[in-house]
Amino acid sequence: MEIISGKTLAATVKEGLKSQVAELVSKYGRIPNLVVILVGDDPGSKSYVSGKTKAADFVGIKNSLLHFEDSMTESELLAEVNRLNDDSDVDGILVQLPLPKQIRTNVILDAIRADKDVDGFHRLNAADLFQSRITCETVLPCTPHGIIKLLESKNIEISGKHAVVIGRSNIVGMPVAKMLLDKNATVTICHSRTQNLAEITRQADILVSAIGRPNFVKADMVKEGAAVIDVGTSFNAETGRICGDVDFVNVSDKTSFITPVPGGVGPMTIACLMENTVRCFLNHVSDSK
Ligand code: GUN
Repeated sequence: MEIISGKTLAATVKEGLKSQVAELVSKYGRIPNLVVILVGDDPGSKSYVSGKTKAADFVGIKNSLLHFEDSMTESELLAEVNRLNDDSDVDGILVQLPLPKQIRTNVILDAIRADKDVDGFHRLNAADLFQSRITCETVLPCTPHGIIKLLESKNIEISGKHAVVIGRSNIVGMPVAKMLLDKNATVTICHSRTQNLAEITRQADILVSAIGRPNFVKADMVKEGAAVIDVGTSFNAETGRICGDVDFVNVSDKTSFITPVPGGVGPMTIACLMENTVRCFLNHVSDSK
C-alpha cells in the first residue's frame, strides 16, 4: 500500500506555477488576480478559503477576500459579482459554497463570467466537459481535475479499469465520472439510492468517494489492490480538523494506493485552482493583445 501525498504533488504544481507567474508578470506587466467571496461564517468554509488565499500568496497571484454577512441577499451578491465581472483587473472570481439559503447557488454561479469562473462551475464550462468540447478556454473543476492528476502521478492505469464513484454532485461526483470516462475507464456512479452498494464498490479498481460521511467506506467494501481516492472533507468543529469518507485505518491495508485526509485531494483542489487562475489570466492577456 502506498499513500498518495496530495500535499507533495500540490507543492510541486505550485512551485511550477510560481516560476510561471513570475515570467508572466514580467512579460505582461500585470499580476494574475483572484477574488474570493465568502458569505457567512461557516468554519469549514473559512478554513478552505484561507487555504486558497495562502496558496495564491505563495504562487504570486494577487488575491483578496470579500467577506459578507450571512444575511446578504441574492441581489447584493449579484451586484458584487457583476462589479467583479466588469473589472478588467480581475481574472478569477470564486464564490465559496455553500451559500446561505436565501441565495440561489445556480443563479450566482451562472452570473460569474465563464472566463473568470476559476471553479469551473459555470454551465458553459460544465457543458464543455460533458459534451467533450474542452478547449484552452474551458475551465475544468478543481477537485475532479486534481483527482485525475493524483492518479496519473502514480501511473495508475485508468483505461479499461472499473472506476466506481460514490456521490453525484456537480462539484465532484459527476465531473470526475466524466473525466474518468474520458480516460476510458468503465464508470459506475453510486449514490444514496443505490442498492447493494458494497457489491458494486467491491468491483472497483479505482474507488472515488465524495459523499462527506465520515468513515462510510469500510474494508469490506473495497477490493484487494484497489486505488482509493477519498474526497470527504467533513469538518469537525470541535477539533477544527477535517475527516474523510474512508475508514483509513482498516481500509488502507487492502489498497494499492490511497489518499489521506487531510493531505490528499484537498491540496490538489487548491493547486488546480491556482492553475485555473493562471489559465484565466492567460486568456485575458491574449484577448487584449
Ligand atoms: N465548497 C466545497 N468545495 C468547493 C469548491 O471546490 N469551490 C467552491 N467555491 N466552494 C466549494
